[in-house]
Amino acid sequence: MATTLISGGTVVTATGRSAADVLVDGEKIAAVLAPGSTLLGHDLAGSVDTVLDATGKYVIPGGIDAHTHMQMPFGGTEASDTFETGTRAAAWGGTTTIVDFAIQRYGERVMDGLAAWHEKAAGQCAVDYGFHQIIGDVNDDSLKAMEALPDEGVSSYKLFMAYPGVFYSDDAQIYKAMRVGAETGLMTMMHAENGPAIDAMVADLLAQGKTDPYYHGVARAWQMEEEATHRAIMLANLTGAPLYVVHVSAKQAVEQLAAARDNGQNVFGETCPQYLYLSLEDQLGAEGFEGAKWVCSTPLRSKHEHHQDHMWQSLRTNDIQMVATDHCPFCMKGQKDMGVGDFSKIPNGIGSVEHRMDLMYQGVVDGKISLERWVEITSTTPARMFGMYGTKGVIAPGADADVVIYDPNGHTSIGVEKTHHMNMDYSAWEGYEIEGHVDTVMSRGRVVVNNNEYLGSKGHGQYVRRATSQYLV
Ligand code: URP
Ligand code: ZN
Ligand code: ZN
Repeated sequence: MATTLISGGTVVTATGRSAADVLVDGEKIAAVLAPGSTLLGHDLAGSVDTVLDATGKYVIPGGIDAHTHMQMPFGGTEASDTFETGTRAAAWGGTTTIVDFAIQRYGERVMDGLAAWHEKAAGQCAVDYGFHQIIGDVNDDSLKAMEALPDEGVSSYKLFMAYPGVFYSDDAQIYKAMRVGAETGLMTMMHAENGPAIDAMVADLLAQGKTDPYYHGVARAWQMEEEATHRAIMLANLTGAPLYVVHVSAKQAVEQLAAARDNGQNVFGETCPQYLYLSLEDQLGAEGFEGAKWVCSTPLRSKHEHHQDHMWQSLRTNDIQMVATDHCPFCMKGQKDMGVGDFSKIPNGIGSVEHRMDLMYQGVVDGKISLERWVEITSTTPARMFGMYGTKGVIAPGADADVVIYDPNGHTSIGVEKTHHMNMDYSAWEGYEIEGHVDTVMSRGRVVVNNNEYLGSKGHGQYVRRATSQYLV
């Protein structure tokens, strides 16, 4: 088996940083050693197959993006990244594991949905992948099937309080699913927005001739998110279900989560880069139909209400525990443009899987989070939250050799003609400049990106059977 020494770098984990060399043997990390260590009197660098020089750079566990939707059928079309293109873009950006969503649609059986997603992903991925299960039709059969999810390596499922007629669950369905989730040891993931009220407001706005993308954000007001978050928390409290609220964007929703945590409840929140950097006014409100590029749900929030600043603060204080992308890309031409003249027909989603590690590193440069917190919210907590820790999310002997060498003196210019490898005809991050660069990416011991060259291959990525969340009590 091939051996690699990553030498001279600063190893950064969620708990600290130190100068250390990392020895990789095959697919695993074999040792983390004092710089320049010898083995039985032998110079290590001279005994391994490959030496990667990380002098002046950070050596971190590979990123884990716990919320992606590759080739998801949604909004009358399909997300434009396949498992092949999306995981390749992830690799380019230093993400070595994704957790995507298998879907049970209305009238379908849960295990058929899971099997269909295995079929889409198998043999296609550049990096490792796992699945959460969307339960889009809570009924006796799907409740029974939920009990079998842990045996499939699926330890979390997602419900929707939004999208009536698509994935929506009413309160009775949520209550029933949460009861099973609590008993089965599954993490309940919630899309917390009041879908029926949003749909009524959408109809009102369209009737007034308010058809631009901007009104997507108006209809999906923060009150819709706060109310649903509160309701989800109360139903979780009643049923004893651990709760993880996805794509949190409103500061009022964070306050609901923080209050519940202060009250001793086992609830968590995820945010996404778009809710930290982008706004209702600057992006959704862009000239003409441009705002469609940033139509996603929950929506971008008003900068005048300071949701973005509050979200950075919540990341620092651990009121929000982690950052995923909710990567759900659509092209402007042929997909987003379905909603010209009617914002409600714009497919919901933004693509960011390639840029999450960089965008969050810029938060370190800007003094918003620490270096260790960067690793924690992008890799270690996702691993713990979703049952992968030890194998993923850490630089330690026995862990998978998913390692990123990150150059703090490098530079990354984001743009569709620049660093972009996602299958989209625009970038939601066009013009963003990052004061850092993903230098080398190793996935289970194999270098898949090095010095701006892609060395990975389709099919290298394996299915990750996930265990119970470490946050369950
Ligand atoms: O706009 C979004 N978030 N699209 C993906 C589906 C979801 O709700 O996560
Ligand atoms: Zn959602
Ligand atoms: Zn999503």
